[in-house]
Amino acid sequence: MARFTNRSFSVVLHIFQLMLFYNFSISGAVLTYDGCMSDSANSYKVGGWCFLFYTDPSWPPNTPTQNDAQYTCLPHGTLAVGVTSKMLNTFITRTPPATNPHAWTALERLNRSTPTNMDGWYWRALMPSGGFATFPTIKANFPWGTADPDNSNGNDTAAVLVNNYGYGDAPKAYPKSIYGNKQMAVICQFAPIQWKYLPRGHGRFANSAYQIAQTTVTKLACIIQCHRSVSCISLAFNPTTNDCQIYAVSPDDPQFTGSVTTDNSYDWYIRDEMKY
Ligand SMILES: *[C@@H]1O[C@H](CO)[C@@H](O)[C@H](O)[C@H]1NC(C)=O
Ligand SMILES: *[C@@H]1O[C@H](CO)[C@@H](O)[C@H](O)[C@H]1NC(C)=O
Repeated sequence: MARFTNRSFSVVLHIFQLMLFYNFSISGAVLTYDGCMSDSANSYKVGGWCFLFYTDPSWPPNTPTQNDAQYTCLPHGTLAVGVTSKMLNTFITRTPPATNPHAWTALERLNRSTPTNMDGWYWRALMPSGGFATFPTIKANFPWGTADPDNSNGNDTAAVLVNNYGYGDAPKAYPKSIYGNKQMAVICQFAPIQWKYLPRGHGRFANSAYQIAQTTVTKLACIIQCHRSVSCISLAFNPTTNDCQIYAVSPDDPQFTGSVTTDNSYDWYIRDEMKY
């Protein structure tokens, strides 16, 4: 991402910072599902998950790096995976405009040997177990800012979400020499203990780009597999063969409805309360 110019909020900035200190001191640092749910000004609920826009005024400028941000939401959550366009777009306008913090999510560019800068992007979230959950982004689902991704530094391997702009690619260290002093933020993703999966007719996706995993397991194990994934929003299960396919998109999402393969041997189960 090219250098992002500072907004001219300098007059009110000082007052706002004092207010933010106060707000964060009463509500801050509750990095749990319940903490996220109780901070409605900074959170958004979709598909049972609670997503929290979180920053701490005591963080030095340009910290955490994206690598360190991976640890910020642990052990109760992870860096956010953009589960739908609606979720991603919601946060573009929900970030606090006064300090305009630039927010890390689990978005990383793992392959730079690609035809364009739009390719090679993955959601890569450090899980409480210590491993990474990795899944390629689906381009149709993605709100880049107008000039991005441009790989303007040659090593823009992560991306920040900028208020009223969208995503811009940047080095994971977000260097001051390029971007100036910036208050950073993270978007965390928290799962509740339980939620519902509703059966919704028959069919499956044949496009492998939408599939997180395919296994042969019982229906319950299939649903648990989706439930534990930070990216899964629907699954197709074949009760005769026990074929379980979990997906990062939903047949209910108008962007992907047209890609559904008619197949009466598979039952759809869809995360409740999804918004597309
Ligand atoms: C990176 O992307 C290129 C072009 O799509 C592909 O040929 C190559 O196999 C990819 N590399 C890795 C390590 O996935
Ligand atoms: C890569 O990014 C770092 C900051 O994270 C910067 O200092 C360095 O110059 C960059 N290297 C290249 C090759 O662009």
